[in-house]
Amino acid sequence: MSADPNSFIGVFDSGVGGISVLKSLVTELPNENFRYFGDSANAPYGEKTEEEVAALSHAIVERFIADGAKAIVIACNTATSAAAPSLRSAYPDLPIIGIEPALKPATEAPDHGRILVMATDITLRLDKYHELAETYGRDCEVISVPCPGLAGRIEHGHLDESDLVEMIRSYVGSFAGTVGSVVLGCTHYPFVRRQITEVLGPEVKFYDGGAGTARQLRSRLDRKGLLAPVDHVGEVGFASSKDTPEEIALYREFFAREL
Ligand code: DGL
Repeated sequence: MSADPNSFIGVFDSGVGGISVLKSLVTELPNENFRYFGDSANAPYGEKTEEEVAALSHAIVERFIADGAKAIVIACNTATSAAAPSLRSAYPDLPIIGIEPALKPATEAPDHGRILVMATDITLRLDKYHELAETYGRDCEVISVPCPGLAGRIEHGHLDESDLVEMIRSYVGSFAGTVGSVVLGCTHYPFVRRQITEVLGPEVKFYDGGAGTARQLRSRLDRKGLLAPVDHVGEVGFASSKDTPEEIALYREFFAREL
């Protein structure tokens, strides 16, 4: 059966983080219907094994497909690293767009200075990141810092509390004033850009993969003739494996945040 342009795009992450990507997707493709699934009951993915993250990702994508998704966005760097290749070979006809740390735009920017990459331990450990660093980071000074616990802390909301800044300081405080660019290599981190600036200084420039992922989704849908009609007003729905009204309210609160 051929995919239907009027169907929806399934977007997922371990929890609230992928909502930072969803915001870019909706900006780029306002005519599309998006269904967001956060696996908050199993978050954080960054502290699981590669096999566990792959199994969770496959289960989510299977459900999206059963519901009739026309495309999938893996709005999680960790799940992209652990599962994108196996998902693409399991579903070769389905557009599956992943996200990767935005090292390319960071290294191509003039005056990028030293580049700090913040991400989960799995993302920084797996081949995808090593290939990326090898391709784009060769002539630059790239410092890769795993931030275990940070995505899990962001999952709890209350982003204005001081423990969050102190947690960020414990990972990257020693680089204050010495880096020019920060790559937010986990989709949770754009929500704490202000707190990272507080630690590293106001002059750092930030890079994340949201806008690039959205452009890639547009181009894949276009090539397959799957873009929604231009007179359609897109809708956004939220679901979570932590299926409580409070959790869905938290997702909506993150979706409403300025980035
Ligand atoms: N937001 C995810 C990422 O981009 C995963 C964070 C986590 O669950 O550890 O890597």
